[in-house]
Amino acid sequence: MRKHIVAGNWKMNTTVPEGVELAKAVVAKSAEVPADVKLIIATPFTHLYPVNEVVKGSAVGLSAENCADKEKGAYTGEVSVSMLTSTGCEYTILGHSERRQYYGETDEKLVEKTRLAIAAGLQVILCVGENLDEREAGKHFEVVGAQTRNVLGNFTAEDMAKIIIAYEPVWAIGTGKTATADQAEEIHAYIRGILKDMFGAQVADDTTILYGGSCKPSNAGELFAKPDIDGGLIGGAALKAEDFIGIALSF
Ligand code: PGA
Repeated sequence: MRKHIVAGNWKMNTTVPEGVELAKAVVAKSAEVPADVKLIIATPFTHLYPVNEVVKGSAVGLSAENCADKEKGAYTGEVSVSMLTSTGCEYTILGHSERRQYYGETDEKLVEKTRLAIAAGLQVILCVGENLDEREAGKHFEVVGAQTRNVLGNFTAEDMAKIIIAYEPVWAIGTGKTATADQAEEIHAYIRGILKDMFGAQVADDTTILYGGSCKPSNAGELFAKPDIDGGLIGGAALKAEDFIGIALSF
């Protein structure tokens, strides 16, 4: 059976001391969250090691927000998957729309990153989602379908045990405009249908598909009640422990 997950994506927010404090607050409140909901926090690279000191031994998982598409060597400014695992981190977000939009992340690069991450033992939170123009042109199924197939077409059913999908409509990220629960559900069900096509019913049923985009305590319950929405990838609301935990209590 697939897991319920609430993952916080801190993006480029908090200094190291602020991040450590936020992680402590999340760990302190995590006891309120039922054991069948997995909490994960994704922090900037600089925060991973010290935040791991806070979360280790707790039920809170630790994620990076990106990784290099090369194993090691002369790639100034990049951070490799083995560097990530050496901090204690167990997950990485890949293909977030901000990386696709501002840093030229392509599906081809995501294949390499996903391959390296899985080989290093990391679990991947792979993001897909259409932008506003694509949604208004009625191309959201096509765009999300292509992003999903382009990356996952290079992986096996066995690899899928290490992959979590996050559907994040770009027009809903940080804008306060949440997709309605029905709009999100229809894409989630569509993605699950693609997984069934590609890997069979068991993998489709076992894969966690998160919703992201202005998810907060007041709307999480309605989203999480949908059969194909297994949790959330949370940006802004993950920067306050109370809101983040409030979302995790919405199942
Ligand atoms: P948001 O961000 O919750 O601030 O909309 C979600 C995300 O980008 O992961």
